[in-house]
Amino acid sequence: TVNSKFSNALIMWYLINQRDLPWRSSKNPYLIWLSEIILQQTRIAQGTSYYEKFVNEFIDIFALAKADEKHILKLWQGLGYYSRARNLHATAKIIVDKYQGQFPETYAELISLKGVGDYTASAIASIAFDQPHAVVDGNVYRVLSRVFGISTPINESKGIKEFKLLAQKLLHTEDPGTYNQALMEFGALVCTPKNPKCDSCIFNDSCYALQKRTIDKLPVKLKK
Ligand code: ADE
Repeated sequence: TVNSKFSNALIMWYLINQRDLPWRSSKNPYLIWLSEIILQQTRIAQGTSYYEKFVNEFIDIFALAKADEKHILKLWQGLGYYSRARNLHATAKIIVDKYQGQFPETYAELISLKGVGDYTASAIASIAFDQPHAVVDGNVYRVLSRVFGISTPINESKGIKEFKLLAQKLLHTEDPGTYNQALMEFGALVCTPKNPKCDSCIFNDSCYALQKRTIDKLPVKLKK
């Protein structure tokens, strides 16, 4: 089908071209959660060293839960959005107290955690627990809007729903975590905001935006 053609090509590309990032060597939900919280509003180039610092300092959820919040905020310095650090600590304590240190595995339980929205719940459910939840971040909006020619604004609820539905429809159910990371990685490395690498892109024979010369118009974000 058209769907599995997209995800199969994407995953093949990813297996060859993915960056070797420290959280990718594990399916430990604590490490996946930590990396995704750090990467929510932070680029990988900046976030990676913070991830390393946190893992070295707090080897597991118990160590993080026990930590002094001042210590956590100190390590967070430079990343901004400090509510993320406070939510990180609050959630670590909840997982220790309410879940005996075991990360909950359902999307519903995950999204109930402080600081965990649809993006992070889907990332943890798919990457750590192989559950079929599609992740949609800025990279995903860009890749899907261009390849499939979708001009619905991504900062309005209609667009948010449409892209989530498409990402979910395209999801590679045998390995949702790899599919999600492949889509984000493809947006970060090939289908970039400026000067995308269309010449070497695996979708350049079918990409809607490349054919219509509208790469620089997509995704559509309305000025508010
Ligand atoms: N950006 C945030 N999380 C990511 C991940 N797991 N893979 C690729 N890019 C990401």
